[in-house]
Amino acid sequence: MRQNRWEDHYTRRAKSEKWLARSVYKLQEIDNRFNLIKRGNRLLDLGCFPGSWSQYALNKVGHQGEVVGIDLNRPDHLSASGFRFIQADVLTLETEWLVREISPRDVVISDLAPSTTGIRSTDTNRSLSLAEKAVEIACALLKEKGHFVCKIFEGEDLKPFKSEVARHFRQIRLFRPKATRKRSREVYLVGVSLD
Ligand SMILES: C[S@@+](CC[C@H](N)C(=O)[O-])C[C@H]1O[C@@H](n2cnc3c(N)ncnc32)[C@H](O)[C@@H]1O
Repeated sequence: MRQNRWEDHYTRRAKSEKWLARSVYKLQEIDNRFNLIKRGNRLLDLGCFPGSWSQYALNKVGHQGEVVGIDLNRPDHLSASGFRFIQADVLTLETEWLVREISPRDVVISDLAPSTTGIRSTDTNRSLSLAEKAVEIACALLKEKGHFVCKIFEGEDLKPFKSEVARHFRQIRLFRPKATRKRSREVYLVGVSLD
């Protein structure tokens, strides 16, 4: 009961503040903590539908900046001059093509999440595949000193995955924002400054 009230708080707040999803508060908290997104930045948002992270990023980068969002689904309620949407499955998207289209990027954020089956190992493995692809894309597109945020489900592969990502960034942190639903196993890996 208490948990539901807490979740409703973020959902209601997102509606009243005109954000496209409650998940915006997770990115806001990550950004406030690590100071990742700056005016004029060129940012890539992986798994951008329905669009709240891109909405937040567009506000932060301002008119001089640019946000590209990629998802299986088009975020129909998001339109802004600095926003470009690419409809694609990231798992089959050619990284080389993306490099040619939109490189370089100052920040790559990924909230990619699989449709869950309820089978823990299946969901964790699917989340890991998406996170691995997000790292591949980030390493190919990020400028030196670029930043990376990536959702991943907790599981036994998290530790080795974190070590692998740590090789590419000056600082690596696991972060669980307050807006994360209590029953969720998701955490965010934050890579500060590409090495
Ligand atoms: C949690 S939602 C993202 C919410 C978004 N950050 C926001 O604030 O509006 C996860 C998204 O990942 C997308 N996704 C999952 N697998 C994908 C894939 N293989 N390729 C592209 N997008 C994918 C889903 O379509 C979904 O929209």
